Amino acid sequence: MSISIRPFDGNFGAEVIGFDFETNGNEDTFQLLRDAWVEHAVICIRHQKIEPEFFLKLAKIFGEPIPQLINHKAFALPSHPVISVLSSGHVDTLGSGKPINRGGSWHSDHSNTPQPPSGTILHACQLPSQGGNTRFTNQTLAYENLSSDMKKKIEGLKAKHVYQSKYSTRKMPTRSKVDEAISPTSFHPIARTHPVTGRKAIYLNPVRTETIEGMNETDAQVLLDELLAHSAQDEFQYSHEWKSDDVLLWDNRQTMHMAAADSHLYDRERRMHRLMIKGDTPF
Ligand code: SIN
Repeated sequence: MSISIRPFDGNFGAEVIGFDFETNGNEDTFQLLRDAWVEHAVICIRHQKIEPEFFLKLAKIFGEPIPQLINHKAFALPSHPVISVLSSGHVDTLGSGKPINRGGSWHSDHSNTPQPPSGTILHACQLPSQGGNTRFTNQTLAYENLSSDMKKKIEGLKAKHVYQSKYSTRKMPTRSKVDEAISPTSFHPIARTHPVTGRKAIYLNPVRTETIEGMNETDAQVLLDELLAHSAQDEFQYSHEWKSDDVLLWDNRQTMHMAAADSHLYDRERRMHRLMIKGDTPF
């Protein structure tokens, strides 16, 4: 049986039904999955009752899983350290000791690295009965709907991405001294070209973008805020309401995402496993 790919009712994204390594886990199906990921920017592969071993196998369809940077050991799955655990019960052990707001504002993963991950993949291990959506913006649609003046203005501009921008309202987990020493800073184009589709997207990360090369920080923040407000309009958003055994994969080259900041609604721990796929230098 072949898989079916059904676009979501919203602005973008699609669900994949009928994928099963045993019955249709072959190269033709893998190519359909890769194409769907790039075409729809976010895909949800339903009904994946998977152990960490299978989660890794699934991720490898899309590229090479890479280690995740921050407090890697503290948040890694002990049996498979390349898999990160995101739990609503996590606290900032190296800092305040308070709960960590993981992913709770718009961002694009690890954008301070020279080659940010092309994709991120989450497996829902345990979900609260309400709350806990993951929201996305489609940065290709956002770019294509910019005025031509704004497209000209951002052409060739590069933003500076650091571990945590001093302008970010969301605080990242406190790093160990070792993590601090190895956290890179990178400059990436604001109008980023997708290496597969050739389409441009607005590449932003309000948690990490601190300034723009060749611009003073105040002007840079005004421009970055303007681009963020434009990108976060409802017409460019999709909000994923999780079902148990969902695996969700998104394309970091053309989306931003955030965990809905509504943990006050949770009646039990929300726990996800996360993998990231090796990316290229943005251009
Ligand atoms: C993330 O930001 O990588 C995780 C998003 C989520 O937990 O919904």
